[in-house]
Amino acid sequence: MTSPKKKLSSARLTQPTNAFVEEFTASVQFDQRMYQQDIEGSIAHATMLSHVGVLTEDELEKIVAGLEAIRSEIDKGEFEWSIAQEDVHMNIEARLITLIGEVGKKLHTGRSRNDQVATDVRLYLRDMIEPIRSELNRLQDALLDVAEREADTILPGFTHLQVAQPITFGHHMMAWFEMLVRDAERLDDCEKRVNSSPLGSAALAGTTFPIDRELTAKLLGFERICLNSLDAVSDRDFAIEFTSFASILMMHLSRFSEELIIWSSAQFNFVDLGDSFCTGSSIMPQKKNPDVPELIRGKTSRVYGNMFNLFTLMKNQPLAYNKDNQEDKEPLFDTIDTLLGSLRVYADMMAAITVKPENMRNAALSGYATATDLADYLVRKGVAFRDAHEVVGLSVAYGIKHNKDLSEMSLQELQVFSDQVGEDVFDVLTLEGSVAARDHLGGTAPNQVRKAIAFARSQQK
Ligand code: ARG
Repeated sequence: MTSPKKKLSSARLTQPTNAFVEEFTASVQFDQRMYQQDIEGSIAHATMLSHVGVLTEDELEKIVAGLEAIRSEIDKGEFEWSIAQEDVHMNIEARLITLIGEVGKKLHTGRSRNDQVATDVRLYLRDMIEPIRSELNRLQDALLDVAEREADTILPGFTHLQVAQPITFGHHMMAWFEMLVRDAERLDDCEKRVNSSPLGSAALAGTTFPIDRELTAKLLGFERICLNSLDAVSDRDFAIEFTSFASILMMHLSRFSEELIIWSSAQFNFVDLGDSFCTGSSIMPQKKNPDVPELIRGKTSRVYGNMFNLFTLMKNQPLAYNKDNQEDKEPLFDTIDTLLGSLRVYADMMAAITVKPENMRNAALSGYATATDLADYLVRKGVAFRDAHEVVGLSVAYGIKHNKDLSEMSLQELQVFSDQVGEDVFDVLTLEGSVAARDHLGGTAPNQVRKAIAFARSQQK
């Protein structure tokens, strides 16, 4: 990056900027990624200016041709970014003036970098929402596929990480899926407020030129217009909303990751993550480490950090624009990048996951997972629930002492604790009987899981 030529801004300042201050205050190193949006915004602004008679047709043509030439220079990597021109906006404007001369100086009429940057950031984020949505959908589809494949597969469900009741793997996948449904809704909602145009607010108070804000908004595909110029140039709520959405989504991925890490350990051995999503150890030859889920868990904290960064950035700012706002970009961009990468790797990983039904089944058999089923059975025979709870507690204690699951006890052994137990008790003590019995909306029965999957597929975009 070079530091050439005369700065665009400021005949008022008589001393040149201190070289380090110039570098310290510049943002071009990171805001150049918004060049497409900056050029689109400038074309819309110039088009509007010619529409209202501030620019002639001829001037507009020259400006648009110049901006298109700059776009192609940047696309090809031939553009020379300069720290002296501070940011993406001034770099492009300075180049425009070099390329087309005097008429290039008219582009900034009725505009400020304050509404320009607010517009660019919104456009950039809006453009990234679609790829994020599509990766999120891809992950959801991967979960639906696993859920469908494993709708009958039984594993222990846990509370307090202790075996609680048998559930189906499909049901467990659908729990993750539900979290992502809410995330997708939050993204849709956030998009509404991202897609609002601040352009025309100028520095803070609006402009004396007869601008048409409806026109620039329409040209840029904005759904609405920010209604107060002071608010428009200083509002970064949309970025905070986006990082909040991202934080909640990452929190979900981090929870999934925690389960995958536990499930893929030798002690659980419920799933195999596939070699391409794990790494070995440089010293321990036997290792296959779940790096991807661990890294997602780790990256969750940086997304939270970005969200807090923006909250803290905004909390002391008086209206309207302050240079502090330049610090909004890195946390926002980093959140977008981290989220896209995390969703992408997760969708691929879930498409490749294999489960180990035998191990899950054995784990469910060894934790008295059907104890509640026995209690419910006794209630159906007329025993009050609290008494049934006591009977089953005693049966489990007996099982622990003699190393037997409830389903492995004889009828005579079970009848010691309650004379209400009959031959039909074994129907409810099996894992299959237990899950099949929870056959209602939102329950774990394979039948219900299949219905939930069908409904989810009908709702997927
Ligand atoms: N680079 C600046 C930013 O990111 C652009 C706006 C500058 N406005 C100003 N009044 N200094 O916020």
